[in-house]
Amino acid sequence: MLQGRRILLIIAGGIAAYKSLELIRRLRDRGMSVRCVMTKAAHQFVTPLAVASLSEDKVYSELWSLTDESEMGHIRLSREADLIVVAPATADLMARMAAGIADDLAATTLLASDKPVLIAPSMNTMMWAHPATQANLAILTSRGVNRVGPGAGDLACGEVGSGRMSEPAEIIAAIEGHFAEVALAGSDKRLAGRRALVTSGPTREPIDPVRYLSNHSSGKQGHAIAAALAALGAETVLVSGPTQEPTPTGVTLVPVETAQQMLAASEAALPVDIAVMAAAVADWRVDREANQKLKKDGKGPPMLHLVENPDILATLSRRRNDRPSLVVGFAAETENVVGNAVAKRQRKGCDWILANDVSPSTGTFGGDSNTIHLVEAEGVESWPAMTKREVATRLADRIAATLGGPH
Ligand code: PMT
Repeated sequence: MLQGRRILLIIAGGIAAYKSLELIRRLRDRGMSVRCVMTKAAHQFVTPLAVASLSEDKVYSELWSLTDESEMGHIRLSREADLIVVAPATADLMARMAAGIADDLAATTLLASDKPVLIAPSMNTMMWAHPATQANLAILTSRGVNRVGPGAGDLACGEVGSGRMSEPAEIIAAIEGHFAEVALAGSDKRLAGRRALVTSGPTREPIDPVRYLSNHSSGKQGHAIAAALAALGAETVLVSGPTQEPTPTGVTLVPVETAQQMLAASEAALPVDIAVMAAAVADWRVDREANQKLKKDGKGPPMLHLVENPDILATLSRRRNDRPSLVVGFAAETENVVGNAVAKRQRKGCDWILANDVSPSTGTFGGDSNTIHLVEAEGVESWPAMTKREVATRLADRIAATLGGPH
């Protein structure tokens, strides 16, 4: 999938620039050609000679170089690439990208580009958290710029927190995910003739007419999976709790609120070949919803009596005559992630479980990235951190390979 792809790597001036050397080497090992643009500041961290040696190509830095402009202008630099990767993407370069500033070769190339862009941010944790950087990131994301990382941990500046550039292996996984998506968006219709059901988002369990029990699921993961299955040609029904996510192209949305409604809508969608249960279903609901808004009556807080909700994943996994050929669940864990997921797969009777850590520090709930451990009967496969879209693409690809061709 990566053989022969052309990467334009833009190296900005951050301490993580040293990782770009390893990235170039690994990209080349996978058969990709890598052409590099370095900002002036990047020269402070790695030498153009090292970059040129590893990429086996000239390094481009000067906007006004007569030689560069005549041999390879900024327009051609971007036109002759399949993907532009900015690693490290510094706060400064992200700001210039967001503002459309073209004051050096890197920024001008990005502005003059019609190619997909992947950024790997790298900066001090306060710079990353700063509203200006987050606003720039939101602008770039809204324009379709993809992102990998940053990770959290010890930073070169001595502080600890988010801002560390993703490792080369993670950036390569994101590049692979990008090209897999491109392939799927094209002519790959391996799931044509198949029917798929995906659950997504949270459920809301009413307490009274104005209050409910729920969770932080945004629906990003489930919706991305529905989009990826539909892109492969599956006729896809998406049963979703309340979310802000747009309905993916070619997907039939069935909006629900409660777990009971989600179960009913899921059963109504049967028969299907594939069921992926990504919704964060509330395990409990209040046994009797109050007809009127609960009032403070001076007798202390009300006692809520909870009863267990139906388990949609376990119910579908145990259907006799119309069990989907492949039932995939998720396991949202905050400790012993893989161990709990292995037990959960057996308890619920599904074929695969995608385990993810939902501890608040991971940002899995609501965030754009996820780290998955795929639990099958045969064993566990850990995937590197990637965007939720990439998780969806990889899962859809795996499903298509398992079910084997159009139906
Ligand atoms: O929506 P996002 O912000 O993108 O976040 C994605 C996610 C974290 C919600 C998603 O990746 C995820 O982990 N979804 C499953 C959440 C969950 O409820 O996990 P669980 O371990 O409690 O449940 C295990 C499985 O049983 C899940 O497939 C769940 O959908 C299913 N389940 C749970 C309870 C229930 N009553 N019925 C169910 O079907």
